[in-house]
Amino acid sequence: MNLPPFKLERFFAKYEFSAEFLLCSSDCEAMSIADLLALETDAAQKFQQVWLGYTESQGSPTLRTEISKIYETIQPDDILVHAGAEEAIFLFMHAALKENDHLIVHTPHYQSLSAVAKAMGCFISPWRAREENGWALDLDELRHLMRSTTKAIVINTPHNPTGYLMSRSDFEAVNKFAQENNLLLFSDEVYRESEYDPATRLPAACDMGEHAVSLGVTSKTYGLAGLRIGWIATKNKKIYEGMASLKDYTTICNSAPSEYLAEVAMRNRQKLIARNLGIIKNNLEVVDELFTRHPDLFDWVRPSAGSMGFPKLLKGDIEDFCDDLVRKAGVLLLPGTMYDDSRNHFRIGLGRKNLTQAVERLEKHVTKQK
Ligand SMILES: Cc1ncc(COP(=O)(O)O)c(C=O)c1O
Repeated sequence: MNLPPFKLERFFAKYEFSAEFLLCSSDCEAMSIADLLALETDAAQKFQQVWLGYTESQGSPTLRTEISKIYETIQPDDILVHAGAEEAIFLFMHAALKENDHLIVHTPHYQSLSAVAKAMGCFISPWRAREENGWALDLDELRHLMRSTTKAIVINTPHNPTGYLMSRSDFEAVNKFAQENNLLLFSDEVYRESEYDPATRLPAACDMGEHAVSLGVTSKTYGLAGLRIGWIATKNKKIYEGMASLKDYTTICNSAPSEYLAEVAMRNRQKLIARNLGIIKNNLEVVDELFTRHPDLFDWVRPSAGSMGFPKLLKGDIEDFCDDLVRKAGVLLLPGTMYDDSRNHFRIGLGRKNLTQAVERLEKHVTKQK
């Protein structure tokens, strides 16, 4: 297996701990262990008692019970906990696919959603989000992408990097298409529960039938990336067992302290959602105003959910722009080229508390260049 460098992660490795302002993070503002434990009266004391032996490979029953409450029909035994969403993506691809299988992937996308399968010798067809349609996907295109060897469709909604939220009718149509054609649907839902209007929240794909696997994580909506706790939820026992058996070769089981902390987080997830959506909504206003003041320089489709957007730079080259910005102003944006986007977009993160200062720096920098 020959995995290429993960462009986005390598880019972050270069700047994440040196740039003064991260204006392109996908996760929401994190918190300390002390602040998380303060959400429950006895949590700090219980944390001291956490046993540091091996844990149950599929995830502790109490954590899986809390996670299952996110879903309508999912039981604790339908949840398989992983070291972040990343491990779950890796294991899903290995459990579901073999060489020469064909995969249809919502594009642009977080690189591992196609790279793992590609490295296994699978064929990938990108299913492209259309900026001219507010980053929507075209269902007719999906029908045309289908081959006799197609095994699975991969979607990501709310979407990284555009913040696009699929309509309910499209989501239902994708699920129906997968079911009718006997395909697996891998639904990356790591930004779910961060819809700006809760009425637009989609059902989880795993609640729609055995064809689907939903991916979740504590990192994004809940702002707890350092826990490295992710999961899949599925009623598909074949995929579940396949992934569980592969996990014996990756992490065997999860970190016991992280599982306890994730359980506290999931029990209090409504509080975390409210906190993080508050940050995102304030930041959206700041960013909206910035783009309104500079229509000659930026164009963007406002996101409907999640902690990022994918604006377009209208003048100059996006890689040069980002490079200059981080070197001279200490503000990090992510060029769209990290997603193989060649149309001058960049990712802007909306989940961090210091966004206003970062935007001030950015604006000063671009005004100087004019
Ligand atoms: C769409 C998507 N899926 C999966 C992941 C991986 O999440 P984690 O880093 O928490 O494992 C990310 C991280 O950015 C993501 O944006």
